[in-house]
Amino acid sequence: MPKKPYEGHETEYQRMRKNNIRSWDLRDKPEEIDESTKRFIEDALDQPWAAEKGKVIELGCGTAPMLRWLSEKGFGPGLGVDVSKTAIAMAREQSKGLNLTFKNADLCKTLPAKAGYVFTVLLCGFVVLSLG
Ligand SMILES: C[S@@+](CC[C@H](N)C(=O)[O-])C[C@H]1O[C@@H](n2cnc3c(N)ncnc32)[C@H](O)[C@@H]1O
Repeated sequence: MPKKPYEGHETEYQRMRKNNIRSWDLRDKPEEIDESTKRFIEDALDQPWAAEKGKVIELGCGTAPMLRWLSEKGFGPGLGVDVSKTAIAMAREQSKGLNLTFKNADLCKTLPAKAGYVFTVLLCGFVVLSLG
């Protein structure tokens, strides 16, 4: 039994890595990002007040399917942050050649960017941060 809530994520990513499961949703779904999630993000980015392109940060990025998808759409550079070391290692492996960087950090304890660092898009998809 994991001691803290987010140690459960690390255990799960280790299992995924062993079983060649690339991302969280592929554990039990056919797609890395389902169509309704894509439509939700596209709709937000289509609004007249939304940024055209620019720096993206994703909190709780896991293996970063959403960051890679946004990168394909021309957003970036991107920074992904996750508490799981294994997820971050998998994200780096899967994102070679893209303008994406990753940081292993617990968002309940520290925010990953220096004050004054500006992002155009902040994504936080399907993450419940628990203080444990
Ligand atoms: C449901 S998964 C979603 C991952 C990713 N957004 C995706 O769509 O594949 C939730 C993610 O939040 C991360 N997470 C949970 N608590 C966290 C914390 N305190 N700090 C940073 N990341 C955390 C987990 O490790 C996990 O990767």
